[in-house]
Amino acid sequence: MTAESAQRWTATRAIVTGAASGIGAATARRLGAAGVALALLDREPDALAAIASELGAAAYEVDVTSPIAVDDAVARVGPIDLLVNAAGITGSHAAGTCHETPDLEWERVIAVNLTGTFLLCHAVLPAMIAAGGGLIVNLASIAGIVAFPGRCAYSASKGGVLMLTRSIAVDYGGSGIRAVAICPGMIHTPMTDWRLSDPAMHEEIVARIPQGRVGQPDDIAETIALLGSGAMAYMNGAPLILDGGWTAI
Ligand SMILES: NC(=O)c1ccc[n+]([C@@H]2O[C@H](COP(=O)([O-])OP(=O)(O)OC[C@H]3O[C@@H](n4cnc5c(N)ncnc54)[C@H](O)[C@@H]3O)[C@@H](O)[C@H]2O)c1
Repeated sequence: MTAESAQRWTATRAIVTGAASGIGAATARRLGAAGVALALLDREPDALAAIASELGAAAYEVDVTSPIAVDDAVARVGPIDLLVNAAGITGSHAAGTCHETPDLEWERVIAVNLTGTFLLCHAVLPAMIAAGGGLIVNLASIAGIVAFPGRCAYSASKGGVLMLTRSIAVDYGGSGIRAVAICPGMIHTPMTDWRLSDPAMHEEIVARIPQGRVGQPDDIAETIALLGSGAMAYMNGAPLILDGGWTAI
């Protein structure tokens, strides 16, 4: 097998975190429809059980900030060839500028978005190395590329995810492992519904998007499914921006 063909496999077994809602749930549905065996992780047991039952997938109630819980779940799942890190939070009402951000708010957002992503990568990489390859897809955000006003902790956490992704690409490219960061713009999910269900805020957001609409979870899920299909096999370490042109302005 050539190095090129080794990197052009189709995913067969995947872990999707944050699978109980939004982008993670849409990704699980897309991968499931493509025949990928799924292990779904989330901290919300009821919604997780519902989607796992819908897809015939294995469910693991896990807080991604817990190293013990993550390691235990990954050990129970066994080897995988695709990891999708979609668990994330935007932060509480206390989110703000740097000096307005309480220590605990900072710690929580970094813990879920950055440390949680690290813990999953850390746990799955040894088996991927042993198997000779794998793909890691991390949900970052355009907020990791351009800073959104008053979102200090979230923006910093997503910038960290971009560099974690690059670091994995650099350190594991020789082991056949690739990592890609997805940077969505505004996607309509439970995370953003509080803004998008307000007509004035919705209008103001859409006015910033050249394509004239907010994204849907499937806009992201179909790209992740494409990556998992073996397409785009020379993409490694780079951010993939899916924002309807928001950051092109
Ligand atoms: N929706 C957007 O506009 C948007 C834009 C850019 C990036 N993103 C990123 O995409 C990812 C998915 O976002 P979404 O919009 O689908 O959000 P969502 O709120 O709909 O789903 C997030 C899921 O993550 C889970 N989760 C949160 N904290 C967890 C933890 N500690 N342990 C385990 N599970 C946990 C939640 O229970 C939920 O099921 C996030 O990383 C988010 O930052 C979203």
